[in-house]
Amino acid sequence: MSLSIHHIAIVVRDLEAALSFYRDVLGLEMTERRVVPQEGVEIAFLPAGEGEIELLRPLDDESGVARFLEKRGEGLHHICLRVDDIAAAMERLRAAGATLLSDEPRVGADGTRYVFIHPKSAYGVLLELYEKRSDSDPGD
Ligand code: CO
Repeated sequence: MSLSIHHIAIVVRDLEAALSFYRDVLGLEMTERRVVPQEGVEIAFLPAGEGEIELLRPLDDESGVARFLEKRGEGLHHICLRVDDIAAAMERLRAAGATLLSDEPRVGADGTRYVFIHPKSAYGVLLELYEKRSDSDPGD
């Protein structure tokens, strides 16, 4: 199983303010910004080499991200590792007793499949696994 860092996510209260630092001061380019209703967040992606910085802000007070922000404040929210085969990775993790936040991979708007691993299983960091399906993959 080959793994690489896909993105590192930072939760912020004010996306514009965060962009004025990460984009305008630090000099990263923002390539994508969108609302993800199913997660209750707005996100912005700023590539940095092989990986990306993801800035996210909660849309309301109800989402998991909002509760995280309330409890822990701004800062590192999760690290996302790209995997070739998310089903195989989930099976390995379950067999090892890791706690996954959903039984099945969730599916993003662009068809990517992802799952979160509880921080208690990953030494205090929320981990996301992300499977980017290539165009040549057969559907299932
Ligand atoms: Co993420």
